[in-house]
Amino acid sequence: MINGKTKLSCLIGRDVRESKSPQIHNYIYNKLGINCKYLNFSLNENQLSDFISTVKTLKIPGFNVTIPYKEKIIDFLDEVDDTAKKIGAVNTVKYIDGKLIGYNTDGAGYIMSLKNNNVDISGKKILVIGAGGAARGILFFLSKENPESIHIMNRTKKNAEAVIGELKNYYEMIDYDHYNEDEDYDIIINTTSVGMKSKDSPYKFTGKESAVVSDIVYNPRLTTLLKEAKENGLKTVEGIEMLIYQALLADQIWFDLEIDADIMGEIIKIIS
Ligand code: ATR
Repeated sequence: MINGKTKLSCLIGRDVRESKSPQIHNYIYNKLGINCKYLNFSLNENQLSDFISTVKTLKIPGFNVTIPYKEKIIDFLDEVDDTAKKIGAVNTVKYIDGKLIGYNTDGAGYIMSLKNNNVDISGKKILVIGAGGAARGILFFLSKENPESIHIMNRTKKNAEAVIGELKNYYEMIDYDHYNEDEDYDIIINTTSVGMKSKDSPYKFTGKESAVVSDIVYNPRLTTLLKEAKENGLKTVEGIEMLIYQALLADQIWFDLEIDADIMGEIIKIIS
């Protein structure tokens, strides 16, 4: 119910009309009795400054940021937490005591989705497809889990090399040149948008793989990559889980809560 104390939280991005974030957050608010409503706002870059003023005027407790503003938004913030600073991208902003503080919950949300599926990262050989903003957050958190190695496969070599250059400060066993189709990876992760609303796949299975395959694309839920992985008898992790975990983590930051991750299963049911 909306009343005089109802708060607003939201997502901003260039075109966020299709985002499932409102369903996820509003479900959490209903379930936990948080008096807040979550909406999506599609903005042009030249509207960011006005949006920030509005957040301060209306004392909006928090908002999420998506493509293509996860880096740009940093210019408008008073503080950025260490992790988001290292990743170089912010997807969650909290407004408190007159200050805007930036966080990144994408990478941590992704790791939670693997752990929820009992996927161990430590000692594993990982192939990450893509080297954009989403990849950076995921790579940063993966590297902290002590994998044996991470190889990056990307359309544009120099973009992969730029990401590797940043990551090398924290993790040594990351490479582009050693990517090898015949390598037996334990975990294959798609961080690109390939497969979103299309039948394209960023990886061709040889039939020899024994990997866990995961995709951050969640529309469709079963991407061609995941479908082919299943056909090859491989375990899969869907992108919708990362989306839900990063949302749970954002609400924890905004409302100083510990949210029981068990409600994730219920959310998956209502948004599929
Ligand atoms: P995000 O911030 O969401 O990760 P991004 O920075 O645009 O988005 O990065 C997108 C990633 O997907 C990049 O790795 C990009 O490859 P390039 O570095 O070659 O640009 C990859 N990508 C996007 N569209 C692709 C396509 N059609 N085929 C292959 N890779 C693609």
